[in-house]
Amino acid sequence: MQKKVNIEKAIRRKYPEQVVLVTTVKPNGGTNVMAVGWVAIASSEPLMFMLGIDDGAFTYELIRKNREFVVAFPHDGMAAEVLFAGSRHGHDCDKISKCGIKVSKAAKIKAPLLTDAVANFECKLVDIYRPGDCPLVIGRVIAAHENVRAGLKRLYTVAPGHKLSGVKPAIVKIKKNG
Ligand SMILES: Cc1cc2nc3c(=O)[nH]c(=O)nc-3n(C[C@H](O)[C@H](O)[C@H](O)COP(=O)(O)O)c2cc1C
Repeated sequence: MQKKVNIEKAIRRKYPEQVVLVTTVKPNGGTNVMAVGWVAIASSEPLMFMLGIDDGAFTYELIRKNREFVVAFPHDGMAAEVLFAGSRHGHDCDKISKCGIKVSKAAKIKAPLLTDAVANFECKLVDIYRPGDCPLVIGRVIAAHENVRAGLKRLYTVAPGHKLSGVKPAIVKIKKNG
């Protein structure tokens, strides 16, 4: 049974919400990292991500300038890093060194991978749309990497106020001819 409530109340039932970290290159060659919860797959072939990135974020400025970025899936042990990356602006803070996130070279773009992430996706900017108050950044995946540790739990926001927790993927066996 459903009861009509206001939109603000109902949207609080959206959790869990996935969270990703987005890396970009700063003008001085350093790396910036930002937490993004508004993320979805926008195309499967070719694979594209859609990120809702506030236009006040340094990341937004850097993506428009460089036209490339990495989307990384943090694991459940990376909550402190995600909260730090998601609460400080990178204009005047080297978030990577401050929270000790390890980075490694990407295959095709300058923005680096997050070494310990569950998976990393190198993206080229396709377009930016603004259907409402938040710019939607669309990136085409041109290279992908996964952690050699299978079964790592991904990090999700599980309740309002950036309450983070791990969610483990189920191992699904696909039946032949099924
Ligand atoms: C769990 C979490 C999810 C977030 N999701 C978003 C989001 O989807 N879009 C956004 O613009 N900011 C989001 N933020 C806030 C940004 O990460 C934050 O404004 C950050 O300081 C921007 O960094 P930058 O200015 O260095 O790019 C989120 C923060 C946290 C902790």
